[in-house]
Amino acid sequence: MIRIAVFVSGSGTNLQSLIDSCKTGFIPGNIVLVISSNPGAYALRRAEKNGIETAVVVRKDFGDKENFSAAILEILKGKDINLICLAGFLQQLGGNIIREYERRIINIHPALLPDFGGRGMYGMRVHEAVIKSKAEYSGCTVHYVDEEYDHGPVIMQKRVAVEENDTPETLAEKVLKEEHKLYPEAVRKFALGQIGLSGGAAEKG
Ligand code: GAR
Repeated sequence: MIRIAVFVSGSGTNLQSLIDSCKTGFIPGNIVLVISSNPGAYALRRAEKNGIETAVVVRKDFGDKENFSAAILEILKGKDINLICLAGFLQQLGGNIIREYERRIINIHPALLPDFGGRGMYGMRVHEAVIKSKAEYSGCTVHYVDEEYDHGPVIMQKRVAVEENDTPETLAEKVLKEEHKLYPEAVRKFALGQIGLSGGAAEKG
């Protein structure tokens, strides 16, 4: 059973899908800690409802991302965390935490990376950009986190067709539905040791 920490900033529907998948045993692991960068995040309530320890670390309380990440490292200390899942976590992590948890931090992004990723590309902005570009497909990507935004090796992807009448909102809904399946699958594979360190198990659906 792996020990998982989930980092959140918002509503936490991906956190919920991970909680549910641990409960059913689909993920052979336990979420032992949820860290939020936003004290008002509904994700914190989801964690509390499930008896999961929570912590809040606000980015503006720290001078730079290294100090911010040092505060997070302090919270993680002694908790024996095998995997950190970013689930709608809107802060960039410093090199210190990325080095300490090398290839043990993964993220879900609501597009087919490397397209529609990078600084400022999060949440609804991603779907607006996809619709504007008239792309035929969008989807979601689970990838390892490195020091660049939305950049580390891809672990799994799921494609979603963009229909002519899709709006950013309808596309977001379709992609989110797939995220809730893809993220637990990727975490399960990680727990079972079925993912290469270079993201070699990349799958396009
Ligand atoms: C999800 O769509 C996730 O992919 C996205 O934020 C949403 C969080 O929703 N993440 C990013 O855009 C990261 N670049 P949730 O809080 O309901 O899981």
